[in-house]
Amino acid sequence: MSKSISGFSKLSKSHKIDWIVATYFNKNENAKNIIKQYWNSNIKLQQLHDEFIENTITNYYLPFGVAPNFLINGKMHAIPMAIEESSVVAAASKAAKFWLERGGFKAEVLSTTKIGQVHFMFHGDFEVLNTFFKTIKPKLIEAAKPITKNMEKRGGGIIDIELRDKTKSIEGYFQLHATFETLDAMGANFINSCLEQFAKTFREEALDYDGFSQDEQSIDIIMSILSNYVPNCLVRAEVSCPVKDLTEDPSIDAKEFAKKFIQAVKIAEIEPFRAVTHNKGIMNGIDAVVLATGNDFRAVEAGVHAFASRNGSYSSLTHAKIENDTFYFWIEIPLALGTVGGLTSLHPLVKLALELLHNPTAKELMQIVAVAGLAQNFAALRSLTTTGIQEGHMKMHLMNILNQFEATEKEKATLIDHFKTHTATHSAVVEAIKSLRKP
Ligand code: HMG
Repeated sequence: MSKSISGFSKLSKSHKIDWIVATYFNKNENAKNIIKQYWNSNIKLQQLHDEFIENTITNYYLPFGVAPNFLINGKMHAIPMAIEESSVVAAASKAAKFWLERGGFKAEVLSTTKIGQVHFMFHGDFEVLNTFFKTIKPKLIEAAKPITKNMEKRGGGIIDIELRDKTKSIEGYFQLHATFETLDAMGANFINSCLEQFAKTFREEALDYDGFSQDEQSIDIIMSILSNYVPNCLVRAEVSCPVKDLTEDPSIDAKEFAKKFIQAVKIAEIEPFRAVTHNKGIMNGIDAVVLATGNDFRAVEAGVHAFASRNGSYSSLTHAKIENDTFYFWIEIPLALGTVGGLTSLHPLVKLALELLHNPTAKELMQIVAVAGLAQNFAALRSLTTTGIQEGHMKMHLMNILNQFEATEKEKATLIDHFKTHTATHSAVVEAIKSLRKP
């Protein structure tokens, strides 16, 4: 049977499923049952989810967990996290509890500017183009007023538009490089609408401009789009404490631990192979909160990793030092987040997540997300430089393996107890299940 289809998007949901099951699952009813068992019985809620994307056939659940005990700038938070990986929420919770007893996390937003660009081709004299740009810049801003007036009332809008000459990289290539303040909105739609208006006005004004030759008048707009690289939408989060307070485990010397921890961070600063994994651990925390609060984690990921490479080599997002017998550990990351618009009022669970966080402003959410990343990194590095990662990770993963073997509640209780005193590797758990089930 041919596997291509025309008009799939126009089929009803059940016809889409029928086609998928007939074409890819040999009409196996089990496939249909799996798809349908994730449907929500609340028809209105299901329809809402169906309409978030296109060609929806079912829902894909991620666990929604909570990491309590986060003290951030003197305010307590329970942080919502949507993630599939075991041990992440536990690690965040453990780090939160640890720092709660040491003054908590301090966070501040350093800047909030976002970027958008109109990319265009112009084959003529730069000085002529620059004079034209300066003449019509007020018109570009004026023509975007219907889009910007509400944002301006709230205190945001277009900050500036620059003309950038990129002809050293590509012949004839220029940009309108615009900066925006979008306040509590992530701002993608706002920025893209402004940029498309700039492009339209720019091209129209060029056609009427006397200073251009006939050839110069035909400015060729390539595209108008925001940038997810936001190095000037930056947040910093930090923890610190006297070195002697850095461990509660008497078998670990605090000074030794601090030294090892800082070495681990330094390695991630200079070694890209380590930095990628180090930052992945940070993104465990960041993505989970970004997702739970209905934000665009792909945009955040792309921007954060570009920032991690800003000095020409991929490097750690966190840093650590000891000064005057005090241990300092901090992160600086770019985060373009919204607490209004998008999914924030549309998705009931996203709305609940924001309520749980006391309905933060975008700036407050930036701080909370940065803290989640820092806490995650602290937990991972503490494990890595002491017990090794597997001990805690496998302790948390134990339940996944038990579920895979369809362990009964009684079996689970026995094996959880057993692995409190035994190392939980995958094979050790499988062996233990087998031996428990031996007649
Ligand atoms: P533990 O000391 O065995 O935990 O740590 P505990 O049972 O003594 O409990 C202490 C606290 O930890 C609890 O306090 C919780 O806050 C939390 P309580 O609630 O009892 O007052 N906690 C839990 N929270 C929720 N559910 C649980 C739970 N268990 C403990 N079941 C732990 C165990 C896993 C926390 C610790 O070993 C740890 O932090 N490990 C690090 C795990 C980690 O980083 N996981 C991320 C995935 S690995 C990865 O992908 C990234 C990596 O490659 C990054 C890198 O290389 O840098 C590692």
